[in-house]
Amino acid sequence: MNILNDKRLLLCAQLVKGKKAADIGTDHGYLPAFLVSEGICESAVAADINELPLESAKKTVTSLGLSDKISLVLSDGLKNVDLSGVTDIIIAGMGGELIARIIDDCKALKGGGYHLILQPMTRPSELREYLYSNGFEVREERCTHEGRFDYSVMSVYYIGGKPEYENDSRYKIFGRIDLADKSGRAYAEDRLKKLTAAANGMLMGSGSREQGEELMKTARELADLLKQRGGKK
Ligand SMILES: C[S@@+](CC[C@H](N)C(=O)[O-])C[C@H]1O[C@@H](n2cnc3c(N)ncnc32)[C@H](O)[C@@H]1O
Repeated sequence: MNILNDKRLLLCAQLVKGKKAADIGTDHGYLPAFLVSEGICESAVAADINELPLESAKKTVTSLGLSDKISLVLSDGLKNVDLSGVTDIIIAGMGGELIARIIDDCKALKGGGYHLILQPMTRPSELREYLYSNGFEVREERCTHEGRFDYSVMSVYYIGGKPEYENDSRYKIFGRIDLADKSGRAYAEDRLKKLTAAANGMLMGSGSREQGEELMKTARELADLLKQRGGKK
């Protein structure tokens, strides 16, 4: 049964490594239902802060006969989620700053041992900054395109120190995407377009001129990188 025809969520599913996933902010519950019904995971947790989405997840789970394998939890982030046996934690479809807050609120994540799959809808740079400064390594980042939007999905591990890459504009704006990959390039071009628009907005008076010039300089450097390097991370 095709319960997941959303390329963004499919990409999240492809990155799952272990046998029990927790989907935080599950909404309709399609992702955990897909993971279990496809045999990718043996069991899953579907968590949401709001009752209505959790009701909708319950409908998905019961209609597919997966109630004994997927537990439904009303929870702000990971606060009420029992992490025993959980291998992968997916937080998708939320703003980057909210994802960072959810991670920060869960001290257990800083003990390591969990694979985080993160898909910010907005402010990915803030999330990347948070991860870099708090001992999390973005090991891989993959992209996809759906409708008018380009998305990146991060595969993240807690390493308790500084990752080997720099916290520079390449990382903050483009992330760890592979610029040689077609969807990675499309994502980078989209990010560059937004950065240039923000810089122009500031230069035309909606913010500090100095900041606008700084942003434009970064945008030019990244545009050069895209032109020259097509590939290397
Ligand atoms: C836009 S939907 C994303 C659904 C799904 N994860 C996806 O990517 O398609 C965001 C969901 O996150 C839930 N949510 C928002 N803040 C949350 C929080 N702090 N903890 C858990 N769930 C949250 C909302 O209730 C909503 O169902």
